[in-house]
Amino acid sequence: MTSSAIANTKRSEIALVRTPAALLLDWYDRHRRRLPWRPLPGQSADPYRVWLSEIMLQQTGVKTVGPYFEKFVARWPDVASLARASIDDVLRMWAGLGYYSRARNLHACATAVVRDHGGVFPNTEEGLQSLPGIGPYTAAAIAAIAFGRRTMPVDGNIERVISRLFAVEQALPQAKSLIRQFATTLLEEERIADEKSRAADVRSRSGDVKSRSGDSAQALMDLGASICTPRKPACALCPLSDDCVSRARGDQETFPRKAPKKTGALRRGAAFVVTRGDEMLVRTRPPKGLLGGMVEVPNSSWLAAQDDNAALQQAPVLNGVAPWRRKTGVVMHVFTHFPLELVVYTTTVAAGARAPRGMRWTPVSTLADEALPNLMRKVIAHGLGE
Ligand code: ADE
Repeated sequence: MTSSAIANTKRSEIALVRTPAALLLDWYDRHRRRLPWRPLPGQSADPYRVWLSEIMLQQTGVKTVGPYFEKFVARWPDVASLARASIDDVLRMWAGLGYYSRARNLHACATAVVRDHGGVFPNTEEGLQSLPGIGPYTAAAIAAIAFGRRTMPVDGNIERVISRLFAVEQALPQAKSLIRQFATTLLEEERIADEKSRAADVRSRSGDVKSRSGDSAQALMDLGASICTPRKPACALCPLSDDCVSRARGDQETFPRKAPKKTGALRRGAAFVVTRGDEMLVRTRPPKGLLGGMVEVPNSSWLAAQDDNAALQQAPVLNGVAPWRRKTGVVMHVFTHFPLELVVYTTTVAAGARAPRGMRWTPVSTLADEALPNLMRKVIAHGLGE
């Protein structure tokens, strides 16, 4: 037998061993989602695009992120151009994506990469974690996807897939570390299969085959998003269904186990929509803290024990103000740590009325260009609505 015939025989034997890792990657090669930050098959990943997308995806879904990602890369195609941008421009472009400390960290990170790393992202988890806005999850995601490091970023989709595949009884969030260990076994299987196929393939001995850790992680994410969904998972279509412990028992929908959630108490307050002709009164929040640096209409403190009168007392003081009108209904918004309910008051002031200290008039027609968080968009829509 010739050496290539031997190699072919070994390859076909290996092909018969369908490990979950191999099944998963085969499935990914056929069904991966086309997302704007993913390179096409055969192309290599651009660390800048991977980093930008992972920051945006930290607390926001794939569908919402898509157009924001496209806007950012069209305006700032690389890390150097983003580092040169002003923070105000970055916040304006980010407006609507929420969790605004991400935008400030994004800019600080671009600056640090240019200043401290010659414009090149570090290629290790440790190096990545030394940068602003990059925690352990994001460092693992970038290291795996952009640099082929054998590491596993575990997000909500991966938690669900892995907890079902291995029937992990421990509840989240305590189960995170165990789930990560199980997920990492898929990379180990992939590594072994990869080494075997390289040993069998004489021609690739000299070639450097990059690990497919990033693809394995994204395959689990895609599987969780499209097949292994929270309710009614489409197990018949799943490449891992024969290996899935919970499916064999029929209780897959009960995973992942979750500890009861502690949500903060409802906070209440009032917001004030003041118009002067075609303009609206706004102010910028302090740079640090919740919604730091974002634009808002004047509003009261937000307290669990807020009383309507006390909230109204915090209305901005203006000359020639018409009486405050209270809009019927309320604006509800849920922050990570507490839900918020705002009543909205409106009024109009005469032309020439001065903005109180720390506030300014801005044309209603250009409000969309301001760094307005979603909460304030809802407040303004409610205030201006019938
Ligand atoms: N969520 C976080 N990172 C992701 C990625 N690379 N692809 C799809 N969803 C994600």
